[in-house]
Amino acid sequence: MVIRKENHKQDGKIMTKDKVLAMLINTDSYMSGELISEELGVSRAAVNSAVKSLRSEGYIIESCTNKGYKLISRPDRLSSGEIEAIVGPERMANVVVLDSVDSTNKKLKELGYSGCPSGTVVIANEQTGGRGRLGRSFLSPRDCGIYFSILLRPDTAPSDTGSITAWTSVAVAEAIQKSTGIEPGIKWVNDLVVNNHKICGILTELSVESESMRIDNIVIGIGLNVSNKITDFPEELRSTASSLASEYPDKIGRLNRSAIAAQMIIRLDQLIADWPHNSERYLKRYRELSVTCGKEVNVIPIGSSSEPSEGRKGKALSINDDFSLKVQYEDGSISDLSSGEVSVRGLYGYA
Ligand code: BTN
Repeated sequence: MVIRKENHKQDGKIMTKDKVLAMLINTDSYMSGELISEELGVSRAAVNSAVKSLRSEGYIIESCTNKGYKLISRPDRLSSGEIEAIVGPERMANVVVLDSVDSTNKKLKELGYSGCPSGTVVIANEQTGGRGRLGRSFLSPRDCGIYFSILLRPDTAPSDTGSITAWTSVAVAEAIQKSTGIEPGIKWVNDLVVNNHKICGILTELSVESESMRIDNIVIGIGLNVSNKITDFPEELRSTASSLASEYPDKIGRLNRSAIAAQMIIRLDQLIADWPHNSERYLKRYRELSVTCGKEVNVIPIGSSSEPSEGRKGKALSINDDFSLKVQYEDGSISDLSSGEVSVRGLYGYA
């Protein structure tokens, strides 16, 4: 497996390219090559070479004598430079952008063992072994999704982290809304859906210190389908899975994965600052975005081999304060469901 680090600090050429791109994105007018080279402390030749390399990747950069360079249009790429233009250079010190990796969660867990700080992020343009919940795989083709993991080091006991994935679904929904104008719904407990189709899944993994039983770190992995065509999904997933572009064809060509990823960083940084004290805000937003409440549902015990149609039927009533789901079954009995025990599927479609 070849991993190309796009923002590897030792690779000065790549760093310069990302920095030049970040500067051009943040300037509406022309920017002289001289000014860029002064600001970045690199030679004019290095700036020229960075511009050449960006053009070869599909960035349209106009150059004008005595005025300099201007960015006219850009391809949808996940790149350090584009993310940096939004979150700033300091934040990028703990963001690793990879072209391809087996799993961003796995990669970040390795970085976690070597002591990386809370808030470290790994983002990839492709995963060759993307992991989903319950040991499933997560389809992660190149150039059309965002495969994103963030590491947290909260000073809490494992039992206190039950709602962190639900908080994350709120943060990611808000990031998508801010960067694309599309407001996804949340299917209990943590899938993001658009038009009854799943567009994003979240996998949270805990590392616990065996002596103290305290958390060493939490890795939250987020897989977002952005521009996949419906035919990119295996036939058996087409009725349940989709992407932002497939659900909003008018947005095709206008969805920018770097802009979405940058908003994810911003919202998840806020989540880290809010955790665990600001639950009310996340709960309120979660309830507003929930597409499960009020629906007829099938409740399927996790680990059971039953078909969704064989689950226990009921109606989702409300989200409790701990993000568990209140369900009324057909016999009138009421239960509070926790995410670890059951999965819930709509009777008329996925959500
Ligand atoms: C699910 O819906 O089952 C959860 C899917 C989580 C997928 C993401 S993609 C980024 C991170 N790395 C992984 O290997 N998995 C998560």
